[in-house]
Amino acid sequence: MKILVTGGAGYIGSHTCVELLNAGYDIVVLDNLYNSSEKCLDAVKELTGRDFPFYKVDMLDKDAMEQVFKENEIDSVIHFAGLKAVGESTKIPITYYHNNITGTLHLLQLMEKYGVNNIVFSSSATVYGMPKTVPITEDFPLSTTNPYGSTKLFIEQILKDAQAANNKLSVTLLRYFNPIGANKSGKMGEDPKGIPNNLLPYVAQVAVGKLEKVHVFGSDYPTPDGTGVRDYIHVVDLALGHLKALEKKSNVPGVHIYNLGTGNGYSVLQIIAAFSKACGKEIPYQIDGRRPGDIAECYADPTKARDELGWTAERDIDEMCEDSWRWQSTHPNGFEG
Ligand code: NAD
Ligand code: WQD
Repeated sequence: MKILVTGGAGYIGSHTCVELLNAGYDIVVLDNLYNSSEKCLDAVKELTGRDFPFYKVDMLDKDAMEQVFKENEIDSVIHFAGLKAVGESTKIPITYYHNNITGTLHLLQLMEKYGVNNIVFSSSATVYGMPKTVPITEDFPLSTTNPYGSTKLFIEQILKDAQAANNKLSVTLLRYFNPIGANKSGKMGEDPKGIPNNLLPYVAQVAVGKLEKVHVFGSDYPTPDGTGVRDYIHVVDLALGHLKALEKKSNVPGVHIYNLGTGNGYSVLQIIAAFSKACGKEIPYQIDGRRPGDIAECYADPTKARDELGWTAERDIDEMCEDSWRWQSTHPNGFEG
């Protein structure tokens, strides 16, 4: 079975490529390398001992993308490619809508033309907006609080509409919670450009001495220690969720929706403590005001993925931090360093 992985050079995409190759799938990777490095794909090849075609292609260039479909017999697509920075999306919303939505429309047009009827899409817990309660189940009301989140919600709707018009199409929407961690080898991991937006890479860069201290956004939330609570999930568990989705839902027409989270919430201070344990250093931090748009608590009810896909996240918070640290400490400047 040949899988087209869009955004396969990125953080989650590359970890999924490793698991796909190890499980015996053939893959084709498409990425414009806007937020990633080709060296990451070298690591994927080294770790798996397998080769695969890579197309440095922008999804906005439909003709270039068509070459990928012409030259490869694709059975399924896992669609990771997209811009993902929440704050940036409020500043350049048109760019976000154009990149994420137009890119997806091109992909769907080509899938239709070449008779590819399986797609797994990287959605996000962001589509639950400001949930009234936790844990979150897949049937919670959907809304968004920023343009990035809106691209995810709109693409979900586009995929639902495409499926309604094509009864052969299998659409799986995977709503990720907060992916962290890295491949055990320490040879690949998250490599954000510039100052990280997300907590874990920020903490990791403080630990390695690139940043001075963690800014904790708010300590007055209605949570046990007052700091925000999230469902951090190991990127390898997340990657394996994609394999389960392919295994169970390929060629099962319909729209299949799953939360990929652990079901456990950890606060910012708990994450700092867990990372400190993993790296054996104190992590300096200061309490700042709340970040606009943040919610107090967000964690998944992952029961549906367990029952229908046979998938459960297995790696705990200590392992997530240890694996992140192995990558960060050996690659303080990421792939290009
Ligand atoms: P990432 O930025 O590391 O990977 C995305 C990849 O897509 C990058 O390699 C980038 O170069 C590529 N890309 C972007 N626009 C493209 C285009 N027009 N054409 C070709 N390639 C393009 O991000 P990630 O963390 O691996 O996220 C993967 C997917 O999962 C994204 O869709 C993201 O929105 C979604 N997601 C991520 C998180 C998270 O916290 N990391 C959470 C929920 C959902
Ligand atoms: C986690 C917690 C912050 C940074 C975002 C997107 C979401 C999804 C995952 C893509 C919060 C606190 C953070 C820092 C801090 N991405 N924090 N200091 O906001 O849960 O989710 O990434 O789909 O859509 O919104 O993740 O890692 O930014 O924040 O105190 O420097 O850490 O307030 O409580 P978030 P995050």
